[in-house]
Parts: sequence; structure tokens; C-alpha cells
Amino acid sequence: MKKIFLSSLLAASSLLATEGYEVYKKNCMSCHVEMMKKDNALQNLKNLKAPPMVEVSNRIKENIIIKDDDDDVHRHLFVLFVKDYIINPKLDNSMCHAGALERFGTMPSLKGKLTNEEREAVAQWLYERYEDVKFD
Ligand code: HEC
Repeated sequence: MKKIFLSSLLAASSLLATEGYEVYKKNCMSCHVEMMKKDNALQNLKNLKAPPMVEVSNRIKENIIIKDDDDDVHRHLFVLFVKDYIINPKLDNSMCHAGALERFGTMPSLKGKLTNEEREAVAQWLYERYEDVKFD
């Protein structure tokens, strides 16, 4: 039952990911670059306002560890975390490295700037965009 429910949610989410890219360009791109190699990011740390999205996506995926090997559940938790972080960025919630946090400071809250659908779409996009794209 749970499976079926999640699969139908996921079918809808692929569409959302396309819209999510638009949300990203409008609301996130000014701080988070979409793609950057690790070497390049480290060399250009001074010019970055926030961690590149490829890094954010990979780190959150790595940090969310679930007991059963279920990609749907993993994705669902990823999306929940990102949707919440956008409006509730808190040092306590951040999965950023301490060094990065010191460099960048905490993300400003985007509360009131995005609808629930936009947050959902951008979170789905963040998951899908970097499937098999590592930060290396
Ligand atoms: C004004 C700059 C700015 C904008 C705009 C911005 N961010 Fe961030 N974001 C940051 C900074 C700085 C950090 C790193 C510090 C932190 O984790 O709070 C960050 C971190 C994050 C994290 C990582 C949290 C973690 O624990 O690793 C996520 C997820 C995130 N941003 C998503 C988004 C999304 C999605 C958008 C657009 C809807 C967005 N951000 C827009 C500055 C920004």
C-alpha cells in the first residue's frame, strides 16, 4: 500500500522536477551554482556565496541513511528535509561541514517567498538533477 502510494507520488514528481529547475533559477541560482568540480570550488571558495548545488544534493543524500534499502523512502526524506530547510535554515539542521558554515554563514530563510508547490518542485529537482552526478 505504502509502495503504491509513493510510486504514484513519484510519477507526479518527475513533472515537478522540470518546474523545479525554473524555481531554482529564480530563487536559488544567485547563491548556489548548479555545477562545479570540487577542485574548482575549493579554489574559488572566495567567490562563492553558498555551496554548489551538486555538493548540497550529494551531501544530503549521503547523510540520509535509512535502514531498509528503499529508494522511494530515501527520496521522500530528502525532499522533506530540503522543503523544510528552505524556510527553516538553522545551524542545528544544517548538514554542511563546519568549515563551510563558517565561510558562508547560515542560509537566509525564504519563508513567504515560495509556495508549498514550488518548494516541493525544487526539492524534487535537486534530487533528480544529480542522480549519478557526484561532487568530485
Ligand atoms: C542568499 C543566498 C542563498 C539563496 C538565495 C539560497 N541559498 Fe541555500 N544556502 C545558502 C548558504 C550560505 C548555505 C550554506 C549554509 C547553510 O547550510 O545554511 C545554503 C545551504 C543550503 C542547503 C544545505 C543545507 C545542508 O544542511 O547541507 C540547502 C538544501 C539549500 N541551501 C537549498 C536552497 C534552495 C533549494 C534554494 C532556492 C529555493 C536556496 N537554497 C537559496 C545560501 C542561499
